[in-house]
Amino acid sequence: SKVRVHRWDISYAFKSQDCVRNLAVTINGQTPGPTIRAEMGDTVVVHVKNNLVTENTAIHWHGIRQIGTPWFDGTEGVTQCPIVPGDTFTYRFVVDRPGTYLYHAHYGMQRSAGLYGLIQVALPAAQAEPFSYDYDRSIILNDWWHDTTQQLSTGLASVPFVWVNEPKSILINGRGKFNCSLAAANQVCNATSPDCSPFVLTVVPGMTYRLRIASVSSLSAFNFEIEGHDLLVVEADGHYVNPFAVKNLNIYSGETYSVLFTADRDASRNYWIAANVVGRRPDTEPGIAVLNYYPNHPRRTPPTARPEGPLWNWNDTDYREQQSIALSRSHPDYIHPPPATSDRTILLLNTQNRVEDGRTRWSLNGVSHDMPHTPYLIALREGLRHAFDETPAPERYDYENYDVSRHPPAVVNATISTSIYRLKFNSTVDVVLQNANTLANSSNSETHPWHLHGHDFWVLAYGTGKFDPRRDTSKFNLVDPIMKNTVALHPFGWTAIRFRADNPGAWAFHCHIEAHFVMGMGVVFAEGVDRIGRLPTSIMGCGDSKFLRARHH
Ligand code: C2O
Ligand code: CU
Repeated sequence: SKVRVHRWDISYAFKSQDCVRNLAVTINGQTPGPTIRAEMGDTVVVHVKNNLVTENTAIHWHGIRQIGTPWFDGTEGVTQCPIVPGDTFTYRFVVDRPGTYLYHAHYGMQRSAGLYGLIQVALPAAQAEPFSYDYDRSIILNDWWHDTTQQLSTGLASVPFVWVNEPKSILINGRGKFNCSLAAANQVCNATSPDCSPFVLTVVPGMTYRLRIASVSSLSAFNFEIEGHDLLVVEADGHYVNPFAVKNLNIYSGETYSVLFTADRDASRNYWIAANVVGRRPDTEPGIAVLNYYPNHPRRTPPTARPEGPLWNWNDTDYREQQSIALSRSHPDYIHPPPATSDRTILLLNTQNRVEDGRTRWSLNGVSHDMPHTPYLIALREGLRHAFDETPAPERYDYENYDVSRHPPAVVNATISTSIYRLKFNSTVDVVLQNANTLANSSNSETHPWHLHGHDFWVLAYGTGKFDPRRDTSKFNLVDPIMKNTVALHPFGWTAIRFRADNPGAWAFHCHIEAHFVMGMGVVFAEGVDRIGRLPTSIMGCGDSKFLRARHH
C-alpha cells in the first residue's frame, strides 16, 4: 500500500460558479476541491494550510471510519480544535474500504461556501467489483446561496429567526446558472463566464459508464436524472447494493451512489443531465449538465426540453420513501448480517423548537445540541472535568403521549445542552429516528439525512407514522440490510438503524443539512474511551486543552 500526500491551501477566491461573482472557499484555488484517489489500504496524508486569514477551519473525511485515528475525523468541537488562520494541520488516515466518499469542511457553514470534494477508493488490482463498466466518472451536487455563510448562520441564530430560504442555484461539479436578469444591481453576473458553463459528460456510444454521484448540499434533496437513460444503482456509501434500476435517483445530502448506464441511445444528439429539488417546494431552477455523445459538439444544446423532475404536489414523500426501501438491500454476495439483537435502543424524536432566549433550534428528545469549547475527544481521553454537560443525553422521548402528527406541536420548548451518549464498547446499538411536525404555520415535516461518523450502520427499516417499539421491530430487515453512513428520515416517518459501537472515539451523529446541524440537530456518541491511544497535540489548543498543548510542547 502507498502513502498519498496532498498539500492544500485553503483560501477565499472570487468565483462565478452560477455566473454571479461571489466569494468561495477554495482548495488550491478550486471548488469543488481535488478528488482524492487511493487504493484500499493506502494511507492518505493531507497537509491543510489555513489561509482564510480571519476564519478557522477543519476538514472531515465523510465515510472514512478513522479506525485507530479518531483524532483525524476533522469534526471541530468533537475530535479537534479548529485550525486557526496561518496554521497547517496534517491529517493522516488509512482508507480501509473501497468506494465513494466525501470530504468537506466541518466548521461553521464553510461546507456550503465551497470547501468540499470527493474521495475515491479503488479495490486492489487483483480484486473485482460485482459489476463491470468501461469508464469511471463522477458528479458532485451542491446548492448555492449568494449571501455569505456568515450572513446565513447569523440569521439562523437571530431573534427573530432569519431563514436561509431556498438556494439561488444548484451546482453540478461546481457549475450552475443563475438567471442574470434577476441579479441585484450590486451583483456582477456574467452569463458567459467560463466558470458557469455547464459540466459536460462526454460518452462514447455503446460504452458503459460508472457514474459516482455525491451530494454535499446544505439544504436540498435532489432528484437526479439523465434524460432517456436508465440508471442501475450498484453502490451506496461504499457498499454494494442489490442492483436496482431507476429512471431517476433521489439523493440526500451526505449520500454517495454509483450508478451504471450505457450510452445506447440515439447518438446523433446530446441529452440533459438534471438535478431537481425534491422534498421541499422547489423555488430553484434545476441544476443542469450535458451528456455529450461523442463526436457531437459538447456545447450542442439537447433538442428536447430539460427534464422537469417529479411533480411537486406538496407530498412527494411516498415515492421517495419507496425508493429508499428499494435501495436498502445489500448485494447478495456481500451481505454482512447485523447482530440478531441489540443491547440498547435509543429513540430520537426530531423536533423544531424555540429555546429560552427565543431562538429557533432543532432538538432530539427535547435537547438541542451545543458544541463545547473543549472537543469531546480531548475532554474524555484526558479526563478533563466540566468540559461538557455530563448528564446523559435522553434515551427516548415520551412516546406514549407525544403525537408526532399534531399541529402545532404540543411541546414547543427545548433545552440546549452539550450532553452526549456513552456507549458500551462493542455493544450493539439501535437508533430509531422519529420525525414529527415542525413549528411552521401549517402542518409540515421535513426530510432529514442523518450521518454517523466513525461507523457504518445497517439500515433496518423505514416506516410511516410513529414507531412503536412493541410492534415495529418485526419490520426490521435482519437478513440483507445495506450498510450506509447516511440515511434519510422521511416526513412524518421513522428510520431504524443498528451499529456496533466498536470504534474507540467520540463521534458526531447529525442531520447533514448544514443549517439544521448548526441549529443543534445532532448528538455525540462516545465509546471505548479507555482504549484511545495518545492524542496528537496538533488537535489541542482550544478551551481547556490549551494547557495540555503547552505541557506537551
Ligand atoms: Cu458529512 Cu458530520 O458530516
Ligand atoms: Cu435536518
